[in-house]
Amino acid sequence: MTSRIALVTGATQGLGTALVAGLAQRMDPADTVYLTGRDAARVGTAVSSLPVTSAEVRGEVLDVSDPDSVTRLAAELNDRHGGIDILFNNAVMRVGPDDDPRAIVEEYTQVNNFGTTRVMRAFAPLLREGGRLLVVASSLGSLKFLAPVLHDRFDGLSSLDAVDAATAAWRDQVRDGSARAGAWPGFVNIPSKIAQVAAVRALAAERRPRDTERGILLASVCPGMMNTPTSALWWDVSDAPTPEQAADPLLPLALDPIKPEHYGELIRDGAVLPWRPAT
Ligand SMILES: NC(=O)c1ccc[n+]([C@@H]2O[C@H](COP(=O)([O-])OP(=O)(O)OC[C@H]3O[C@@H](n4cnc5c(N)ncnc54)[C@H](OP(=O)(O)O)[C@@H]3O)[C@@H](O)[C@H]2O)c1
Repeated sequence: MTSRIALVTGATQGLGTALVAGLAQRMDPADTVYLTGRDAARVGTAVSSLPVTSAEVRGEVLDVSDPDSVTRLAAELNDRHGGIDILFNNAVMRVGPDDDPRAIVEEYTQVNNFGTTRVMRAFAPLLREGGRLLVVASSLGSLKFLAPVLHDRFDGLSSLDAVDAATAAWRDQVRDGSARAGAWPGFVNIPSKIAQVAAVRALAAERRPRDTERGILLASVCPGMMNTPTSALWWDVSDAPTPEQAADPLLPLALDPIKPEHYGELIRDGAVLPWRPAT
C-alpha cells in the first residue's frame, strides 16, 4: 500500500495540534502528517512538542490567508507525493467579545472563510482515491442559527465562488455597520461557520458523482465546545473536553471506512446535523 499523506491547517495549538498527534499515532510509519501554521517558529515548537508518533510529522508554513502560501504548498506536496489523502481545514482567527466586528471582519473572513475556500480549491484536486477533506466548522454552522430571511444567502449555493460572494456581501455589511441594523447575528462566528458549511456543501454538489466512485469524503465537522484559549475568551470552558478529547471522534472520519450519508454534511459525533431547521 502506498504511504499516506495528511495535512492539518492551524496546527500550532489547540485542536489542530491534537488532530496531528491523533493522526500520527494512528497512521503507519511510512505515512507523513504535515503540521502546518502561519509562523515558522511556532510550527517548529509544535512539532517538537509532540510525543513519539508512529507516522512521521513534518512542519510546513501555511498561512491560509495568503493565496501564494496556499498554492505554493499544494504544488510542493503534489511534486513530493503526487497527492494527499487527508486534510483537516482547522485554522481560525482568534477573536474575543471585546473585538469590534467592524474592525476584525476583514482578517477574520480572510482566515476562516476565504482561507477555507482557498485551501479547498488548492487541495481538493490533489485528493487520492479514498481521500478525506474535512472542514472543522461548528454546530453553529447550521441555518437554524440564522434569521429565516437570511437563509437564501447561504442555502443552495452551487460553487465556491458563490459562497465567497455571499461571504463578501456579509463582510461588507459588517464592515459598514449595516449588518447590526439588519437581521445578522452580532456574533461573527455564526455566519462564518455557516459559510464554511455552505462551502463544503457547494463543493460536494460539484464533486459528488466522481468522489463517490473514488471513495472520497468531503464533510464539515463539529468538534463541540472544548477548552482552548479561543473559547475561554467567551465562555467558562474549564470543564469542557480538552482538544485531544475533542479530536477523538473526528479521527475516524479521516481514518475509518467512510459512511456515504456523511458526504457533504456537517458531522458531530458520527451523526449528521441538519443543515436546514425542521419545518
Ligand atoms: N474552541 C472551541 O470550543 C470550538 C468549538 C467549535 C468549533 N471550533 C473550531 O475548531 C477549530 C480549532 O479551534 P481552536 O479553539 O483549537 O483554535 P485555536 O486554539 O485558537 O487555534 C487556532 C489555530 O489557527 C491558527 N491560525 C490562525 N491564523 C492562521 C492563518 N492565517 N493561517 C494558518 N493558521 C492560522 C493559529 O495559529 P497561531 O498559533 O499562529 O495563532 C492556531 O494554530 C476552529 O475552526 C474553531 O472554529 C472550536
